Amino acid sequence: MKLALAPMQDVTDMAFMRTLHRIGSLPDVFLTAYFRSTTTTCALAEHNLRCIDENETGVPILAQLAGSEATPLLRDAAFLLNRPGVAGINLNAGCPSPLVNRHGAGAGLLRDIPRFAEVLHSLRGMLPAGSFSVKCRLGWEDAAAEFPRILDCLAAATPDEVGIHARTRRQLYGGTPDFSYVQQAVKHLPCPVLANGDIGTTEQATACLQQTGAAGLMLGRGAVRNPYLFRQLRGGPSPTQDEMQLYYDILIEETGRVLLHKRTEKGHCNRMKKYLAFCYSDFTAEQEYQLRRCTSVAEMRRILHGGKD
Ligand SMILES: Cc1cc2nc3c(=O)[nH]c(=O)nc-3n(C[C@H](O)[C@H](O)[C@H](O)COP(=O)(O)O)c2cc1C
Repeated sequence: MKLALAPMQDVTDMAFMRTLHRIGSLPDVFLTAYFRSTTTTCALAEHNLRCIDENETGVPILAQLAGSEATPLLRDAAFLLNRPGVAGINLNAGCPSPLVNRHGAGAGLLRDIPRFAEVLHSLRGMLPAGSFSVKCRLGWEDAAAEFPRILDCLAAATPDEVGIHARTRRQLYGGTPDFSYVQQAVKHLPCPVLANGDIGTTEQATACLQQTGAAGLMLGRGAVRNPYLFRQLRGGPSPTQDEMQLYYDILIEETGRVLLHKRTEKGHCNRMKKYLAFCYSDFTAEQEYQLRRCTSVAEMRRILHGGKD
C-alpha cells in the first residue's frame, strides 16, 4: 500500500514534513502545496521551493502545479522537474478556492472537460514516464454526471498515478466522501489510484482500501491530528500521550527553525495555530480557547502538555 501526505497549503509544509521525519512516521511520498502557474507570472512560491530544496527527510517530493493553460504549466513543470530533489509533477484539479477556480484552475479544470483533457495531454507529452500524477475531485457539482467523463479523460492521458479526493467542488470539505467513485476509478484506470478524504484512523483506512481496491491512500488533516498514522498503517503502534507531546514539541521547534530570523513570539504561535486547527478536537474546550488566544510559545507548550511544564 502506498501512502502519500496530502498537500495542504501552509499546513503540510517543510516544518511538518521534518517533524514526521523526526518522529519516525513517514509516507512514501510528499506533495508540495500548489504552485500557481499562469501566463503572467512564473514566480513560484518561495516557501514551496524551500520544501523541495531543503528536504532533508529522504522522502521523495512531488511539486504540485495549479493552472489552466498548457503553456505556463509546461514552462513551470519543466523548471520544477529540472530542480534537484523534485521526483515528479502533480497537477492540481481539486482546489476549491474561488480565486483559483475563477481562472479555470484547480477544481475549475473539471468544469471545462476539453480544457482538462488538453492540459493533461500536454503535460503527459512532456513529462517522462513515472513523473506525472494528478490529484482531482469527483467533479464540479454532480459526481454521477461528471465523473465518468473525468475518468475517460484520465484514461486517455495515461498519467502515472491519480489521487482522488472523493468529493465534488460543490461539497468543498463538507458531507461525506463517496468512495464508490474511487472504486470506479480503480476499475477504469490503468494506473494506481490513491484514495483521499477524511481518513483519520486505521479503521477508516482499512475500510476505504477494502471498498475501493485503491493502491494507497493520501492523508491530510488526519495526519496533522495524528502524525503517527503513517506508522500505524504500516503495522506500528498507536501513539502514547508522551509521543503526542513529543510531536507538538518537535513541531514547535521545526516551525521556529523554518521561520528563523523572521521569528517573533506571536508569529511563531500563529504558525502553530495553522496545524492546531486540525487538533483541537483532542483538547478540552478550555484548552482550545487558551490555545487560540495564545501568543507565547512557552505558554502554548504548557497547554499542549495538558497544563504541565
Ligand atoms: C488548509 C488546506 C489546504 C489545502 N491545500 C491543498 C493544496 O495546496 N493542494 C491540493 O491538491 N489540495 C489541498 N488541500 C486538500 C487536501 O489535499 C485534501 O485533498 C483534503 O483535505 C481531503 O483530505 P483529508 O480529509 O485527508 O484532509 C487542502 C486542504 C486544506 C484543509
